[in-house]
Amino acid sequence: MLRLKNKVALITGGGGGIGRATAERFAQEGAKVIIAEIDPEVGEAAAESARSFGKDSGGDAYFIRTDVSDEDSVKSVIAKTLERFNQLNILHNNAGGSTLNDGPVTDAPIEEFWRCIKLDLFGTFLCSKYGIPEIARSGGGSVINMASNVALMALPGRDCYTAAKGGVASMTRSMAAEYAADKIRVNAIAPSTTLSDRVKKLLEASPEIKAVSETHLLGLGLPIHIADLAVYLGSDESAITTGQVIPVDSGVTIV
Ligand SMILES: NC(=O)c1ccc[n+]([C@@H]2O[C@H](COP(=O)([O-])OP(=O)(O)OC[C@H]3O[C@@H](n4cnc5c(N)ncnc54)[C@H](O)[C@@H]3O)[C@@H](O)[C@H]2O)c1
Repeated sequence: MLRLKNKVALITGGGGGIGRATAERFAQEGAKVIIAEIDPEVGEAAAESARSFGKDSGGDAYFIRTDVSDEDSVKSVIAKTLERFNQLNILHNNAGGSTLNDGPVTDAPIEEFWRCIKLDLFGTFLCSKYGIPEIARSGGGSVINMASNVALMALPGRDCYTAAKGGVASMTRSMAAEYAADKIRVNAIAPSTTLSDRVKKLLEASPEIKAVSETHLLGLGLPIHIADLAVYLGSDESAITTGQVIPVDSGVTIV
């Protein structure tokens, strides 16, 4: 049975590691996927790959260039999604990520703080602001935010990113309470170190991330591990799961 048949999903940052794996899994489960990505090269490549995953399931994928931190760009991708499919059932607020410019509050550049807030937190806010009314009009559905293990545990040297992801986790709970009446579930996934290409580079250069990576009980995560939870959260199987920040973290938050 196809788990996302007849569903339309918008995945931000869907050209990269976790977002691309999620686009592929969604298409494989029969969803029509919009990859809302800032980088056309990776966006087009991810859409092509997701289409091939959907070839036996009726799944499909399209890239639309989007900057999640720009209001007009977000309004435009939502409008184009509705023009094409006339519905929106799943919004995956995935675009985000930390950089090597991060640090403790006393050292971190102010620009890096605002970069994280603008991309991870404001991007989630903006896409939800314009996406949720369309999910409600489509009869309900699922918002899947992207938190991080840093929203659940202390990780030294990442205070800008931690602030943004803590905001995402809090906003997930309040949005879940607000939009339940519209039959919209809102959850967040909290991955720990997951081997996207970006994070492979961070690992090589960051002693803090390397140190925490060594405490993972079952090895480091792969994008597919996160994508598989996103399939559950996007599907009707998660009918009464809402307001949760769900770790997919190889046990790192319990040791
Ligand atoms: N990989 C990890 O270890 C890890 C751990 C915890 C949380 N996360 C979170 O998971 C999400 C995905 O992480 P990833 O490692 O796959 O990242 P990634 O860098 O591989 O992919 C992110 C994608 O987002 C795109 N993007 C960047 N800015 C954008 C913008 N303004 N508008 C639209 N798209 C934009 C990038 O071009 C890229 O394709 C992020 O929110 C990240 O914070 C990742």
